[in-house]
Amino acid sequence: MLGLKLPTDPRWVNIVEKNIDEILTDHAYCEQKAASTAISLIVSFPEYTELVEEMIALSREEMGHFKMVHDLILQRGKTLGRDRKDEYVIELLKFFPKGGSRTTQLVHRLLYAALIEARSCERFRLLSEELEDKKLADFYYKLMVSEAGHYTMFLKFARKYGQLEEVNTKWNNLLEYEAQIMKDLGTKESIHG
Ligand SMILES: [Fe+2]
Ligand SMILES: [Fe+2]
Repeated sequence: MLGLKLPTDPRWVNIVEKNIDEILTDHAYCEQKAASTAISLIVSFPEYTELVEEMIALSREEMGHFKMVHDLILQRGKTLGRDRKDEYVIELLKFFPKGGSRTTQLVHRLLYAALIEARSCERFRLLSEELEDKKLADFYYKLMVSEAGHYTMFLKFARKYGQLEEVNTKWNNLLEYEAQIMKDLGTKESIHG
């Protein structure tokens, strides 16, 4: 699914189910960071008009997701906790060399975003299929569909702005690299942990 090389062990859902409040806080920040990523792409690459247009829409949509998760936290009688560091994202960033041309930097940021969307989508699908709480499962199903669309969009832009063959090779290498990271994850109650 989504080109990912290593599927998440379904037992991860058992860990999540024991601490729904924890996963919701982590998830809320994933949505907020997705919105921030979209805004930051606008600031860094303002001359890419089509990208800017899509990022305006995306930042709104991701903040909409943030609100949905935040509402859910409030409905459960809780308040949003503090942000946590995301080991997955930290490890993922190590794949990309610093510097390079402006186009290279853009392609790297698009591939990075595409992969995070793809893995989030895979995790949401698992939650939608495996969670005992059917209302929550339904919530994750809807988000899974959105994130799949975002993954496709980021990859499309990377292929459009970069050199196609080079982008495809990088994407493939990134998928291999990500699979290695995922071997040590899937044990925590966080969206990427
Ligand atoms: Fe989202
Ligand atoms: Fe997204």
